[in-house]
Amino acid sequence: QWTTSSIVEEQVKRIREQIGDGRAICGLSGGVDSAVAAALVQRAIGDRLTCVFVDHGLLRAGERTQVERDFVAATGVNLVTIDARERFLDALAGVTDPEQKRKIIGREFIRVFEQAERDLKAEGDYKFLVQGTLYPDVVESGGGEGTANIKSHHNVGGLPDDLQFELVEPLRLLFKDEVRRVGLELGLPETIVHRQPFPGPGLGIRIIGAVDQQRLDTLRAADLIAREELTAAGLDRDIWQCPVVLLADVRSVGVQGDGRTYGHPVVLRPVSSEDAMTADWTRLPYDVLERISTRITNEVPEVNRVVLDVTSKPPGTIEWE
Ligand code: XMP
Repeated sequence: QWTTSSIVEEQVKRIREQIGDGRAICGLSGGVDSAVAAALVQRAIGDRLTCVFVDHGLLRAGERTQVERDFVAATGVNLVTIDARERFLDALAGVTDPEQKRKIIGREFIRVFEQAERDLKAEGDYKFLVQGTLYPDVVESGGGEGTANIKSHHNVGGLPDDLQFELVEPLRLLFKDEVRRVGLELGLPETIVHRQPFPGPGLGIRIIGAVDQQRLDTLRAADLIAREELTAAGLDRDIWQCPVVLLADVRSVGVQGDGRTYGHPVVLRPVSSEDAMTADWTRLPYDVLERISTRITNEVPEVNRVVLDVTSKPPGTIEWE
């Protein structure tokens, strides 16, 4: 039976053996896997690790701070943040098709990240790329030792010639719950270790309609209120995640004070799930729903209606796009 501290010890030893006196890069997403992988490598090789965090402007309120302040404070890691917000907004301008949005966000992300890798390689001899691949990912892709089972841009085989890296995957023998325990053992904040799933394309796929700065600000404000109230009600561990979706192309009539409004609805999509493959809509207490609704319509001027998604998966997916 492995204890958490023996997992940490063993992985730190393996990482040191693999990297030797080399340098490594790790992309942080804000999620638990990349954070724990980075923290382990940091423990093993210290400041020969550089983490890269891309702010694509589609993050939720506080997420950048969580990485820049809290993660750095907990680990002492070298962090480079790349502010790519304008670039993503430009690339997404006027795009409404969900698949198109995903493609654009994925493509821009790869470009920005590869540029960061090139810049780092110009500064130092970075040969290693850290990935937060978990055991279920390895199994799913049929990968054995040495098989790069990478879903996205980090795939070594898919990188341009000048960007060949050797992969470091310190979580590839671990399940999610073990990763969380390792994260706590390494002193990472609860907010990172127990973060609920959040999609890579971020708020970009939670705005139904074209993405622009104002719509992002509106959704961010509504999403923050929902998260605050769910946390205050102690429900974070009971729900798998609760997307808040802005129906940016829909308007409805409302009344606030003496005035008629013509604003947008947001959808609350609280779900319960074991693995995101299937999900049920979470029966949230009415008083919590009421607080969320009242606060959003009072505090977010563009939103005059809050609706609840009561669809299970299947047939509905968790995200709306
Ligand atoms: P769906 O909408 O397919 O979502 O029921 C299942 C789970 O996956 C998350 N999700 C994503 N995660 N990149 C990600 O990293 C994506 O493009 C993406 N799309 C959906 C979603 O939040 C849910 O947990």
